[in-house]
Amino acid sequence: MINLKKIGLVTGGGDSPGINAAIRAVVRKAMSEGIEIMGFKNGWAGLLENDGRTLNRQDVSGILPVGGTMLGSSRTNPFSIEGGAEQVIENFNDNDLDAIIAIGGDDTLGVAHKLKDHGVKTIGIPQTIDNDLAETEYSIGFDSALTQVSKSLDRLHTTASSHHRVMILEVMGRDSGWIALLGGLAGGADVILVPEEPFDVSEIKKRIKEREAAGKFFSLVVIAEGAAPSELDQQITRDSGTDSFGHVKLGGIGHYLSDQLDAILNMPIRVTTLAYLQRGGEPTAFDRLLATRCGVSAVEFCIDGKNDVMTALKANRVQPVSMEKVISNSPKELEDHLLRMKDLFY
Ligand code: F6P
Repeated sequence: MINLKKIGLVTGGGDSPGINAAIRAVVRKAMSEGIEIMGFKNGWAGLLENDGRTLNRQDVSGILPVGGTMLGSSRTNPFSIEGGAEQVIENFNDNDLDAIIAIGGDDTLGVAHKLKDHGVKTIGIPQTIDNDLAETEYSIGFDSALTQVSKSLDRLHTTASSHHRVMILEVMGRDSGWIALLGGLAGGADVILVPEEPFDVSEIKKRIKEREAAGKFFSLVVIAEGAAPSELDQQITRDSGTDSFGHVKLGGIGHYLSDQLDAILNMPIRVTTLAYLQRGGEPTAFDRLLATRCGVSAVEFCIDGKNDVMTALKANRVQPVSMEKVISNSPKELEDHLLRMKDLFY
């Protein structure tokens, strides 16, 4: 056990439901141990600009069920800005911080991991609706996103069957098909397309036709934004720019697939893009609990003197895992057993 006085807290990357629950847990647990939490605004940007303040009990009151992050988020990468990392370290020292708790996905946690080499102690908390962080079974926000995907499929189901249409639902997932796969299975999708497996449009047509022959005159297709047809061998992007972590803006694969199918299928097709509706809003009970457990554990790990680890859910226990392992093994591979299930239900 080490005697800590002050811990910094940042939330970065695409937000997800449950971050606020984690912030609340960090603050409440730290307060109970006599440790001050300094919350920085907008991810790593807040540490770069020294935009932080002490969070007290009042600040985190009522935020448990609220989506987003009260601290704000950004995709700022101090390591891609000249002098950025040095500035973060200077502000870390000037504020007398003992450690930083970073809540985010692979980009945000990747920065935390790199800071270790500069003498900054960090603990990561996994949050991303994509669930693509390695070494943890669940990331905060994934369950809430899945709930939205499956609810959306339920709604598309009734209108698809009434109008005998093919409904395409485009969901998030840049390089990872966890949302499409598990959301699709939970919502009874007939076709599930993930970035990990290039798809063949004629195979999709075949499946829709098989359903027709079985008396099902509609089909539900879930497609991850990062999925790509084998003949194109590249993802569909919305513009050519990249963010500070080098990611392009994906989007439009649902409409691309619709056009391709339209040319070979004699059935009406409609496209729905779920976009930010799957990322905003209130967290599920599962995400609130996961966030609470991760927040409390993160402070405990700091007190135990742990460094460069992430709070991971393994066999329903929150455990410390090496950030090196998390970063080098992300995006997390889809579970083969689950992947095969997508070809069972149609
Ligand atoms: O948080 C990750 C993610 O949900 C990806 O699936 C998606 O590509 C990305 O966020 C889009 O977020 P933004 O438009 O905020 O950059």
